[in-house]
Amino acid sequence: VIGGRWWTRRRPVTTLAVVLLLLLTLAVSPIVFAYSGIYDVAATRQHTPAVYWVLITTLRQSITRHAAREAPAPPADLGDAGRVALGRMLFDEHCAACHGAPGIAPRAMGLGLTPAPPNLVTRSRDLAERDLFWVIANGIKMTGMPSWRYVFNDHEIWSLVTFLKVMPTLAPVEYAPAGTPQGEHPAVTAPQVTMAMLKSRGDAARGRTALRQYACHTCHEIPGVTGADAITGPSLRALGRRMYLAGGLLNTPDNLVQFVRAPRIVEPRTAMPDLAVSEQDAIDMAAYLYTLR
Ligand code: HEC
Ligand code: HEC
Repeated sequence: VIGGRWWTRRRPVTTLAVVLLLLLTLAVSPIVFAYSGIYDVAATRQHTPAVYWVLITTLRQSITRHAAREAPAPPADLGDAGRVALGRMLFDEHCAACHGAPGIAPRAMGLGLTPAPPNLVTRSRDLAERDLFWVIANGIKMTGMPSWRYVFNDHEIWSLVTFLKVMPTLAPVEYAPAGTPQGEHPAVTAPQVTMAMLKSRGDAARGRTALRQYACHTCHEIPGVTGADAITGPSLRALGRRMYLAGGLLNTPDNLVQFVRAPRIVEPRTAMPDLAVSEQDAIDMAAYLYTLR
């Protein structure tokens, strides 16, 4: 082999080898990744924004595409009063435990899920009727959302869809009149919470995790919490610089902790549900929320 000619002849082989090696690495790396156990599946630790984006975009696009192809056309009597009543009964019994309802908090099992069951007041307004039908009938893989098609017939599923479209028009006091049992903790007896106390007893990092564990992010935009872009409640952006909370409360640590723990004792008509937040968790949440400036 003379001069620079040898490599010109061999290059196709080398290129092929490199491409094959690359493909092999690509094929094997998911297997290595899966076996290594390095992916953190703990529901308490949030997704990175990139992973969250991939998951939520896949989920939302999949619902739209599959519903358009597979869901039947809505029946003519969709808005029927009888359907509203039936849908509401079914929702109360089978769905509110995870998704909550106006003025009603999800129960414990719904709170610990990742992804958290979304608040349906806003989501059912945004989704088309056929999308709602498809999701309820088929459920969503790798989330806690069950498929209901073997539990309910089409009439019942369309009734749920009817009620979901009515639900966003109900005020919390209409869905859950005064006296409806709220939360699971006795009356709030917290000592006066001060800024100094938040500094000594509050743990902002723990508070940020607690905000997801109590599903606060299913209603509020909360900077620093992945996926917290809901608009059912007001944004908590710059909470540390606000003058007022919930319309008429001065923004003090004590008022914040009281309101988070017992919103309906503080403001009886509020749509913010009582999530049975413990005193320490509320203090940690407040410590985090006051870092938002
Ligand atoms: C065990 C908890 C659980 C129960 C019970 C449950 N869901 Fe869900 N639901 C979820 C979770 C988790 C998701 C997916 C979260 C996400 O979109 O990231 C979901 C998603 C949905 C969505 C799609 C929302 C969206 O943003 O795309 C709808 C609609 C819905 N559920 C309706 C219902 C109805 C109606 C019932 C009762 C028949 C019900 N769910 C019962 C947990 C639950
Ligand atoms: C079902 C939806 C929902 C959930 C879940 C929820 N909130 Fe709210 N939140 C609201 C609504 C609606 C308001 C407005 C209430 C008002 O002004 O009376 C509100 C108000 C607030 C406010 C006052 C904000 C302001 O700008 O005035 C704070 C702070 C707050 N929520 C914190 C939390 C925390 C912490 C959690 C979790 C423990 C939580 N919220 C869970 C709906 C929700």
